[in-house]
Amino acid sequence: MQAKITLLPGDGIGPEVVAEGVKILKTIGQKFGHTFQFTEALAGGIAIDETGNPLPDESLAACQRADAVLLGAVGGPKWSDPSAKVRPEQGLLRLRKELGLFANIRPVKVYPALADASTLKREVVEKVDLVIVRELTGGLYFGQPQGRRDNEQGRAAVDTMYYTEMEIRRLMRVSFELARQRRKKITSVDKANVLASSRLWREVAHEVATEYPDVAYEDILVDSCSMYLIRHPSDFDVIATENMFGDILSDEASMLVGSLGMLPSASLAEGKFGLYEPIHGSAPDIAGKGIANPLATILSIAMMLRTSFDLSQEANAIEQAVEAVLIDGHRSADLAMPGQPKVSTTEMGDLVSESIVNS
Ligand code: IPM
Ligand code: MG
Repeated sequence: MQAKITLLPGDGIGPEVVAEGVKILKTIGQKFGHTFQFTEALAGGIAIDETGNPLPDESLAACQRADAVLLGAVGGPKWSDPSAKVRPEQGLLRLRKELGLFANIRPVKVYPALADASTLKREVVEKVDLVIVRELTGGLYFGQPQGRRDNEQGRAAVDTMYYTEMEIRRLMRVSFELARQRRKKITSVDKANVLASSRLWREVAHEVATEYPDVAYEDILVDSCSMYLIRHPSDFDVIATENMFGDILSDEASMLVGSLGMLPSASLAEGKFGLYEPIHGSAPDIAGKGIANPLATILSIAMMLRTSFDLSQEANAIEQAVEAVLIDGHRSADLAMPGQPKVSTTEMGDLVSESIVNS
């Protein structure tokens, strides 16, 4: 097959890990006879520096022309002054909205070879295999009104959690479809004891659940979900939730794996289009040192191949290669135990690539 992929390397370690993702796509292309065409575009802090805009129109257009997008990371201390008029994150939010990326899929799977990397006990985390499906274009992130409301009493500000039934329904359908391909269990997370938007969420989620009688369904309040994620994380299969709850719970869940450097993500629109990115962010403290872990990006490529291009065999080849490299004992700096040898970003990419070639 042929596919057009737009690369948004972004800031910090973004360019370093995206380079390894491209390496893996080229290896897959050679081995399985596919042609991937790459276009690189600016996004985030680097785009602010070069154009004054965190998402220039030509970058958005390059994404719209593509079959899929690979994003590295955006942001960093250079652009994080709270009084700054433009911030890298605005580029990311505009990208999500303009590309209609309403469903953010964040798998959290513990590799047996890494079960000791978590701060939690091995027996708590070793069977964890869950996916958070986070609503990505609604809720507090986009609801209006939003902004400063200073008045005679002093400073004030407002954000709005707003959801329509259409937004909830389409997110729940994606979640149920995913659960059908997995262990057939959904946990819908809300705060229905307090929030009106959560009561609507629960009402609509129950309606969608009747369309999927083969999937076990439960609701849980967000505070208690955050507790169960630590207490008994292997109980979860698919967790479906709104934008802000999903942002917070996915960072919490990432720690079950021990390193953010292992976690991929996909942000999906209606149809096959998606944006794929490692969830670790720009990690400015280690940028430019060649020590970042590229595995989250490489695993994001596997999600891209499976979800946007229907190439499951190729996706499996990548995931098996990552597992094989870990079983062989290769560790990037974030995964190494004290005294254990460390491989660099490019060495890790080479190891996975070789493993794919030899598989
Ligand atoms: C994430 C990040 C973003 C978010 C930030 C960078 C805007 O935390 O993707 O989880 O809050 O969505
Ligand atoms: Mg986040």
